Amino acid sequence: LSTFAQSSAPTLQVATEPTFPPFEMQDQATGELSGFDIDLMTAIGEAAKLNIEFVSLPFDGIIPALQSKTMDAAISGMTITAERAQTVSFSRPYFKAGLAIAVQEDNTSIKNFSDLEGKQIAVQIGSTGAQEASTIEGANISSFDSASLALQELINGKVDAVVNDGPVTLYAIRQAGLQGVKVVGELVTEEYYGIAMPKDSPYLNDINNALELLIQDGRYRAIYQTWFAG
Ligand code: ARG
Repeated sequence: LSTFAQSSAPTLQVATEPTFPPFEMQDQATGELSGFDIDLMTAIGEAAKLNIEFVSLPFDGIIPALQSKTMDAAISGMTITAERAQTVSFSRPYFKAGLAIAVQEDNTSIKNFSDLEGKQIAVQIGSTGAQEASTIEGANISSFDSASLALQELINGKVDAVVNDGPVTLYAIRQAGLQGVKVVGELVTEEYYGIAMPKDSPYLNDINNALELLIQDGRYRAIYQTWFAG
C-alpha cells in the first residue's frame, strides 16, 4: 500500500479556453489540445513532477472555477491584472503581450485607440480587451465567446474593429491565413500572462520554480521557437 501512495504524483486539473491560437487550440475531430501554453504547462508538469489534466472551460468561467477550487490552475493566455489578483494567485509572468486593434484591410479612418470612439467593436467576453473597450466613449461593444468569433464579425463587416491580444490577432493573420483584416497602430496596452491558481494554492512555488528552471535551461526558448519562429 505504501508503495502505491509514493508512486502517485498529484494530478492537477488545469483549465484553458482553447480558441486562442497559438496559445491554446483544440483539434475539432480529435479534441486534442495544442499550443504554446499547452506545451509550457506540460513541461512544467514534467519539471515539477505533477500530472497535468487539461479541462476546457469558457474564458469567463475560469476565475470562478479557481475560486471554488474546482480547478487547480489555469493557463489560458491570461493577463495578470490587479483586479484578478484579488481573487486568484498568479505565477511569475511567462509571456509579454498587449492589446492590438484590428480593422478591415481597406479601413483608413481607424489608426489608433482614440479613433474607436463611437464605433462598433467586437471583443472576447471577460477579456482584458473587453475591459479596455468598455472605456471607449460612445462605442457599441459586442462580446463573443472567442477571439476568433470576434474576428469573424469584423471580416463579415458587422463591426468596425476588434480589440484583442496582439500575438493572437497577428498569428491569425500571418500564420492561420485570416484574410481581409489588418492590425493598426501601436499596442494599446502592455500585458503579462501568468498561470492562475486558487489563492492559497499549494502548487504556486512548485510552478514558479519549474517555470524558472525551464527559462534557465532553454526548454522555454524551444517551446517559444515552436510557436513563434518566423
Ligand atoms: N489576455 C486576455 C485576458 O487575459 C485574453 C485571454 C483569452 N484567453 C483565451 N484562452 N481565450 O483577458
